[in-house]
Amino acid sequence: MKTTSDLGDLRGKRVLVRSDLNVPLDGSTITDDGRIRASAPTIKGLADAGARVIVCAHLGRPKGAPEARYSLAPVAKRLGEVLGSDVGFADDTVGDDAKAKAAALEDGQVLLLENLRFNAGETAKTDDERAGFAAELASLADVFVSDGFGVVHRKQASVYDVARLLPHATGDLVSTEVDVLRRLTKDPERPYAVVLGGAKVSDKLGVIGNLLGTADRLLIGGGMVFTFLAAQGLEVGKSLLEADQVDTVKGYLDRAEKEGVEIVLPVDVVAADAFSADAAHDVVAADAIPADRMGLDIGPESSRLFAEKLADCRTVFWNGPMGAFEMAPFADGTKALAQALVDITGKGALTVVGGGDSAAAVRQLGFEDSDFGHISTGGGASLEYLEGKELPGLTVLEEDDA
Ligand code: 3PG
Repeated sequence: MKTTSDLGDLRGKRVLVRSDLNVPLDGSTITDDGRIRASAPTIKGLADAGARVIVCAHLGRPKGAPEARYSLAPVAKRLGEVLGSDVGFADDTVGDDAKAKAAALEDGQVLLLENLRFNAGETAKTDDERAGFAAELASLADVFVSDGFGVVHRKQASVYDVARLLPHATGDLVSTEVDVLRRLTKDPERPYAVVLGGAKVSDKLGVIGNLLGTADRLLIGGGMVFTFLAAQGLEVGKSLLEADQVDTVKGYLDRAEKEGVEIVLPVDVVAADAFSADAAHDVVAADAIPADRMGLDIGPESSRLFAEKLADCRTVFWNGPMGAFEMAPFADGTKALAQALVDITGKGALTVVGGGDSAAAVRQLGFEDSDFGHISTGGGASLEYLEGKELPGLTVLEEDDA
């Protein structure tokens, strides 16, 4: 894969950069700017090299047409603040405004295009349907830099097709992310533990299947844990349960036992009578969840158990919160887990936090990015990497320039 330094003298060249600026918004307020901060160094490096930088990105999942609530305008403003220089904003992606503003860029200036997904061609399923939009995007620039790690698992026009139309290089963020994730898959220092949380086990079946061949310990929390508890024959009350996945999970538990992978499940949970911050709640044993209650966090005994299971680990990957951390009464499990990772990072272990939710959770709970070995900007992308899947946005970068 070529890096940006292989692109030669960039002065005066129009460089199209695909970044992942898909940040959480409350109205037009960005609630976690981690992806913007992580994307800035590549953009700044190109601008400092004299390139005319055209950044493209998506926000949310609009359905191929403009929707004001998914506009990248607030992101352009924040990107300018992070870069410490003005960032222009085009109110379309490949339309008249984008074309005029891209043509008017001077060396070292940065322009952000409006949400790529306002165009149906961006996410269309077939190569033919994406081709026209990809060609229009490519016509804005001389070279392409792929730096949106969070989208490299998507075969989309701005991630995949455009790289086949322009001389291309891998951005620094994508290079860093791939280097770290490679360390998790190729001979990780042991013990190697993976902590999985979040709502749905069905999103993580592939990665769990693959991890049973590489990890030494698998710690499970979050909403998905109730499908594991049910697979062990326990009652989970009104907790999240994917009944159609119970048999698959049973299969994983059997396989883990055969392959010597330790599966660690919570021994207690915080059980509430509703999904609400002011719901009545108590800590109950994991095998005694009342029929009218739902588990919304792992309990304090479980937090201690998880910290103990991580204490001697040399490599840890964590994806998915341990509970409904957005509500203060159910944030303790996620906070304790983050602290356990911080403690072993201090002892030299490689700790990787993956996924928008987990990254936002640790920041919201008061931790710094530098407290961990690496905070990945990719949720689905990092999971698919660990699953051993081929990621179209990475394989295309290995192809020769068109
Ligand atoms: C993410 O949030 O994981 C990336 O930005 C990809 O977004 P998507 O899942 O909507 O493709």
